[in-house]
Amino acid sequence: MGETVYLNGAFVPIEKALVPVEDRGYQFADGIYEVIRVYGGGPFRLKPHLDRLERSASAIELSLPPRAEIEAAADELLRRNNLTEAGIYLQVTRGVAPRQHLIPEGIAPTVVMTARAVSAPNAEIWQRGVKALTVPDGRWELCHVKSVGLLFNTLAKRQAHRAGAFEAIFVRDGIVTEGSSSNLFALIDGVLFTHPRDNHILAGITRGAAIEVAEQLGHPLREEKFTNDDLRRAQEVFFSSSIVEIVPVVSIDGRPVGRGVPGPVTLGIREAFEALTKKE
Ligand SMILES: Cc1ncc(COP(=O)(O)O)c(C=O)c1O
Repeated sequence: MGETVYLNGAFVPIEKALVPVEDRGYQFADGIYEVIRVYGGGPFRLKPHLDRLERSASAIELSLPPRAEIEAAADELLRRNNLTEAGIYLQVTRGVAPRQHLIPEGIAPTVVMTARAVSAPNAEIWQRGVKALTVPDGRWELCHVKSVGLLFNTLAKRQAHRAGAFEAIFVRDGIVTEGSSSNLFALIDGVLFTHPRDNHILAGITRGAAIEVAEQLGHPLREEKFTNDDLRRAQEVFFSSSIVEIVPVVSIDGRPVGRGVPGPVTLGIREAFEALTKKE
């Protein structure tokens, strides 16, 4: 059986899930989204994801369907696609209206949800770690909004891949913000640093879980800004995101991080994070 997609209250085969060309998501990237991991049939940390969706929506004054409707749709979508290890993609755009810059009032949002199987990320990237490339962070001032306007992020990711790296690390005015589709942690002189929650990063759900886990393991942690120079002398660095979870970074701009292999703090956090996903 083919893939089923949720579109505006209905469950439809993917080839029939069509959105009009004048949807403002298509023409203006006027919309927001979430990516939610599902482990053993249960969405991981659904509430924080839906809280973040609400914050994104209120930042751009977009109306959302009731939360219970989204939760029920997610369950039903997993059931219909027969998925237990999956990623749910939820997108809400402003809706359909004749093209004009001024945001029209009172149009119905377009709500799309897909669910796809996610195999455990390639074990090799956890064991060996990945390379990263620093890129100037030329994004806007609303990085806390999980906007579908991801062109800058996708160009940075492509630049990183072309340089043989797995992910781009954004640097804004000398400050390390986050990855192009992940958050970043750096162990500097025995203290784990990650950029504070503000309008220059997306507050990742995995970031939140990694902070919890690090604190439980007794690692000193500061949600404080750190510079690209600090990053260059870090003993360990890792990315966090719903899709790749916790990934050690072993080289940045061609220079090794620490000894150039995943470090014990990162591996401990990765292990504890995995245990958390199983427990919850
Ligand atoms: C820019 C950016 N930062 C951080 C994250 C990590 O967020 P989460 O842990 O909620 O997946 C993402 C995820 O896609 C992202 O796109």
